[in-house]
Amino acid sequence: MTILPRTPLLALAAAAFTLIGATGAQAQGQPLKVGLMLPYTGTFAALGTAIENGFRLYVNEQGGKLGGRSIEFVKVDDESDPAKATDNVNKLVKRDNVDVIIGTVHSGVAMAMAKVAKDSNTLLIVPNAGADAVTGPMCAPNIFRSSFSNWQPGYAMGEVVAKRGHKKVVTITWKYAAGDESVRGFKDAFEKAGGQVVKELNLPFPNVEFQALLTEIAATKPDAVYTFFAGGGAVKFVKDYAAAGLKRSIPLYGAGFLTDGTLEAQGADADGLMTTLHYADAMNTPRDNQFRLEYAKAYKLQPDVYAVQGYDAAQMLGVGLAATKGDVSKKAEFAAAVQKARIDSPRGAFTVSKAHNPVQDIYLRQVSGKENKLVGVATKALADPARGCRM
Ligand code: BEZ
Repeated sequence: MTILPRTPLLALAAAAFTLIGATGAQAQGQPLKVGLMLPYTGTFAALGTAIENGFRLYVNEQGGKLGGRSIEFVKVDDESDPAKATDNVNKLVKRDNVDVIIGTVHSGVAMAMAKVAKDSNTLLIVPNAGADAVTGPMCAPNIFRSSFSNWQPGYAMGEVVAKRGHKKVVTITWKYAAGDESVRGFKDAFEKAGGQVVKELNLPFPNVEFQALLTEIAATKPDAVYTFFAGGGAVKFVKDYAAAGLKRSIPLYGAGFLTDGTLEAQGADADGLMTTLHYADAMNTPRDNQFRLEYAKAYKLQPDVYAVQGYDAAQMLGVGLAATKGDVSKKAEFAAAVQKARIDSPRGAFTVSKAHNPVQDIYLRQVSGKENKLVGVATKALADPARGCRM
């Protein structure tokens, strides 16, 4: 008889189906585990805190739930140390079994995170690190970025500096992916417009002994300097540049991280500096005004670009979870929803490219007092070239 052996098989299959269904349903009834892997110590500590603040602000505005699920946080301090990055991200994936990882600031750490996320098919949203590779050769259906690629603000500034009539430029930055790629973006636009980068100066991350390099800039006498520094290193660089007397003689331009979240500490030494970024203080739109008010109320602080990126990482997660009813295992539906969305960001609405990087306006800003004042749009709807992404 064929009926006898088939009955237990059908029963088994039905039981397995029930089990899988129950697991999915149970998971959705449970809190979503969000792993925050950010720097809470070191030169980028303030950036990590601002990202977490922004992320929590959006979640709180949604009544503490995204896609119908309450949120449980697990935190790891990555110290902006690429050597510890794989172990740190594995703690979140293997020990804590998080549903999604939000991180990080440092490009070298982010590349290690992207590798683990890709291999383990864990959802990853990068709320700062601009490593071009994350939405380039390492791009994947489960990896997203709410911030920028290092190439984007650099490219926009290359156009600005060329339009301002400068011909010969020296670049100075930390020798790691973010610095190298920011300079590459700058050169792509500046040299296309006929300018020349005459010298590329570097020092290891997170070194801040700038004196010898500033002496070299003075001796080279370029028309202008382009730089990428951020956090504590940016504070020191702007102060040292002014103290060396260079601010009066050689205009300094930078990717906007040079003066974002740093103006309190830089004081008058930052006054007048021009930078490019996807956010400015007081954009003066209803969306940004509301965000700034709520952020200031919650944290007794003014937000910066890092806070906006954290807020938007939570928005992107919310969009994906709404489409999948809180089920993070539905990666294709999650990705389709995020790619279709216009993210209603305080920076101005943006879309997400096929490689999962924001397509966004890059603004020209100028420091005045304690603000990066909006001068105008430097490059409209700039998409990263996503070199090497096959998806
Ligand atoms: C980066 O490493 O990608 C980075 C760090 C700080 C600010 C911007 C970019």
